[in-house]
Amino acid sequence: MSRILSGIQPSGKIHIGNYFGAIRQHIELQSKHECFYFLANLHALTTTRDKELLEQYSVDLTLDYLALGLDPNKATLFVQSEIPEHTELAWIFATICSPGLLDRAHAWKDAVTKKKKDPTVGLYTYPLLMAADILLYEPDLVPVGQDQKQHIEIARDLAQKFNDTYKLEVFKLPEPMIKEEVAIIPGTDGQKMSKSYNNTIEIFADEAKVKKSIMGIVTDSKGVEDKKDPKSCNVFQLYQLFATATETENLRDKYLAGGFGYGDAKKTLLEKFYQYFGESREKRVALKSDLDYVREVLKNGSVKAQEQAKLVMHKVKAATGLKF
Ligand code: ADP
Ligand code: TRP
Repeated sequence: MSRILSGIQPSGKIHIGNYFGAIRQHIELQSKHECFYFLANLHALTTTRDKELLEQYSVDLTLDYLALGLDPNKATLFVQSEIPEHTELAWIFATICSPGLLDRAHAWKDAVTKKKKDPTVGLYTYPLLMAADILLYEPDLVPVGQDQKQHIEIARDLAQKFNDTYKLEVFKLPEPMIKEEVAIIPGTDGQKMSKSYNNTIEIFADEAKVKKSIMGIVTDSKGVEDKKDPKSCNVFQLYQLFATATETENLRDKYLAGGFGYGDAKKTLLEKFYQYFGESREKRVALKSDLDYVREVLKNGSVKAQEQAKLVMHKVKAATGLKF
């Protein structure tokens, strides 16, 4: 049994890129491994600065995970800000990290060059907090999407640097776990699906919104009768995620034969979306009426996470001379 850890920011409504790129793996792993998952609300503060909104996103994300199949008896789900050791260890990493390591982080460079996000010190030191998130839980594997790979490499660098500096194997080096076939789920415009690009298909949006996003997927301008190329079509790429191999083959045949328009393909995708997420959508409505249960799940998760975080922080303090 391996130890697994991952986090997701409560910074907006989850979409099928988050699901196929990360959440689905998180849920699958819970049956065979020891899993820790958390809401990265301290990271979310770098973009969400509205008290009500941040609280709402955090409750929403917990509901999402539970509705999609996370079982709190199998996996530990907790909130980052409830465990003070995360920020404590991030500071210790700041004292051994050269600025060059953070200067090279893609997320930071993007924020500065593309002005996508507000370039704050918090965003600059984001990888330090992420390294602490990971290393406190001594995981073997960290399942994430491709965009997070560099952050995990930074966490490994910091773990090694710490062990070398204090000449003690305090930290275990984790491996990223990235499923290549779902590393980058395309959005409705063909770019990477992301909250920040406004090109998402939200899993729990109302029906009108789901329909609008799916029917709005950008395609080329081929007419109904034309033969079409499945490989270059966003609708087809997304359909593959939900469908069985045979269903995918059937759709491929229709594309290649012609006489099947993009509107038809989008309707097929819409149906599949509901077949796939229908049950979770219903479950989420039921869970929403029992928020005490949701809070209980997070509270129990924090107790377990706290135990583990304390253990590692104790070792860190002993190694650095901070223990009295
Ligand atoms: P967003 O880009 O929408 O803000 P996040 O950065 O909050 O998404 O990502 C949460 C998790 O979902 C991460 O593990 C990330 O790698 C994964 N993820 C997000 N978008 C995609 C995508 N388009 N394809 C694959 N994985 C994704
Ligand atoms: N940075 C991650 C994201 O945006 C979220 C995250 C924070 C995370 N801490 C983590 C993921 C630790 C894995 C492990 O998706």
